[in-house]
Amino acid sequence: VAYRTIADDGNAVIILDQTLLPDAAVERRLTSLDDASNAIRIMQVRGAPLIGASAAYGVALGLQAAADDAALEHALTTLAATRPTAVNLHWALDRMRRVLAPLPAAARLEAAWREARAIAAEDAAANAAIGRHGLPLLEEIAKRRAVVNVMTHCNAGWLATVAHGTALAPIYAAHAKGIKLHVWVSETRPRNQGRLTAWELADAGVPHTLIADNAAGLLMMQSKVDLLIVGADRIAANGDTANKIGTYLKALAAQAHGVPFYVAAPRSTIDFACPNGAAIPIEERSSAEFGDAGTDTPVANPAFDVTPAALIRGIVTECGVIAPNDLQAIRP
Ligand code: MRU
Repeated sequence: VAYRTIADDGNAVIILDQTLLPDAAVERRLTSLDDASNAIRIMQVRGAPLIGASAAYGVALGLQAAADDAALEHALTTLAATRPTAVNLHWALDRMRRVLAPLPAAARLEAAWREARAIAAEDAAANAAIGRHGLPLLEEIAKRRAVVNVMTHCNAGWLATVAHGTALAPIYAAHAKGIKLHVWVSETRPRNQGRLTAWELADAGVPHTLIADNAAGLLMMQSKVDLLIVGADRIAANGDTANKIGTYLKALAAQAHGVPFYVAAPRSTIDFACPNGAAIPIEERSSAEFGDAGTDTPVANPAFDVTPAALIRGIVTECGVIAPNDLQAIRP
C-alpha cells in the first residue's frame, strides 16, 4: 500500500490527524517544534516508526528560527520527552544529533530537513521489505488452507509507519498476490487502534472482522487463527518485545494453542542497548482514555506490555525473518 503518512513542503510538515480517524481524514500542518511534540504526545501521529519520522521532522521545525547548540538541544530534549516506549523516537533523535551536532549552526536547518526526509524514505523502504520477507509465511499456510486466517492487534499498518506498515505489510503483499486472507482485528482497548486497522483493511479490500480483545483466546481455541502477527514499539537485544497492551495475552494464548506468533518491525525498533524486556520503559497514559470509569475509581492504564522472546516464533525485519535470540546477526 503506497499511502504516505508524513510529508513536508520545506516549511511545514503535513500529517494525517489519527485522533479523528476513522471517522474523518483530516490533514494537519505542523509548523513548530511544539506542534510536532504535541502531535506525538496526543497521538495525532502514532505507531513506533511514524513517531520516529515525526520526531526527526520535529527537529527540523525546531531549528527554523535558530539552529545554535542551545536550539538543537532544546528540540532534541523536547521531542525525547513526548512518549517513552517506542524506541524509534530515540533512534531518530540520536541520528539527528549525530548528523547535526558537528555542523556549523548555519548548515543545520537544511541538513535537518534532508536527514528527516532520509529517515522517512528509509522507513518506507524497510517496511516494503518487511512485506516481501513476511509474504512466504502466509504463502506457506495458503498451501493447506483455502483462506489464511491471520490475527493482529493494535494498528501496525501504513498509518503507524511512513508507508506500507509493519505487521500489515506481509498481509498487503499476500493480498496483492491473490492469496485469500481473512484478518481478525483486535479492537485494542482503550484507544481502539483496531478501528484504524479495520479502516485500512477495508480500504485495501482485505476481508476482516473486528473482535473484542477478549475474544482472541476463544478464536484460537476453535482453530480459527492460523498465524498471529503484530508490530513492536521496542525490541530488547534478547528478543523480548514491547507492543500495545494486550499483545502478551495473545502470545500466551497462541502458545497454548500452537498458533505461530510473529512480530514485524524494522531494525530501528530494535534497542540493542536494552538487555531485556524488564528494562523497557512502559508508558502509563491518562485515566481519561477510559472515558467512563467514574471520577472516584482509580485507573491504571499501562499502554504497552512485553512479550517474552520465548513466545515469539520469528521477527520479520527488512533483513529477513530472524529468530528472536539471533538479533545480534542483524546489528547495524
Ligand atoms: O500507542 P500507539 O498507538 O502509538 O502504539 C502503536 C503500537 O503499539 C503498534 O502496534 C506498534 O507501534 C507497531 S507500529 C508499526
